Amino acid sequence: MRIDIITIFPEMLTEPFNHSIVKRAQEKKLVNIYLHQLRDFTTDKHKKVDDYAFSGGAGMVMMIEPIAACIESLKKERDYDEIIYTSPDGEMFDQPMANSMSLLKNIIILCGHYKGIDERIREHFITKEISIGNYVLSGGELAAAVITDALVRLLPGVLGNEVSALSDSFQNNLVAPPVYTRPRNFRGMQVPEVLLSGNEQLIEEWKHDQSLERTKVRRPDIIKE
Ligand code: ADE
Repeated sequence: MRIDIITIFPEMLTEPFNHSIVKRAQEKKLVNIYLHQLRDFTTDKHKKVDDYAFSGGAGMVMMIEPIAACIESLKKERDYDEIIYTSPDGEMFDQPMANSMSLLKNIIILCGHYKGIDERIREHFITKEISIGNYVLSGGELAAAVITDALVRLLPGVLGNEVSALSDSFQNNLVAPPVYTRPRNFRGMQVPEVLLSGNEQLIEEWKHDQSLERTKVRRPDIIKE
């Protein structure tokens, strides 16, 4: 998979992709992530990429020319399956969306800022708009990091144990069961006996019951009938 991210703050994204699973996925060439500084695509001598809204009011709007130039230069090199814009009014990102997007080959993520981007970009260049939650971030970079992380861990070969992505919370419309490690007893707080029993079937049943109970209590909204 190839992910091209267009941003005015590429530095905000270098660290999130430089650790742990996403870092290893890049080292193994299972994903290539490219950060593009939007300011490199403006002809303005002050590298300006925003301007006042025609409607007036507070807040600057990201201009169409540099964004179009950047997207077009990428599209000249290869076809893209999706050109994504991160925005609080986009479609809500969730695990099914991550699953299907993880099958794509090439995607662009455009990170928004200020009051938004010139609507003509959304109409003519963007193929998908994604929100990561019902709150407003200062910019799209953190959303791009969240989306990238969720996709990369699903790519075949990225997680050492292939089943572990499938047993994540949400993959079967259930949240994950609780997990424990040593010591068995910490100040009288015990690990559930069943987990020490060595009985695989009992343990699986316990995990499933725990998942179901937790989902009912914590996330009744995601549970399947
Ligand atoms: N940009 C600002 N807020 C956002 C959100 N909630 N999701 C995606 N992009 C955003």
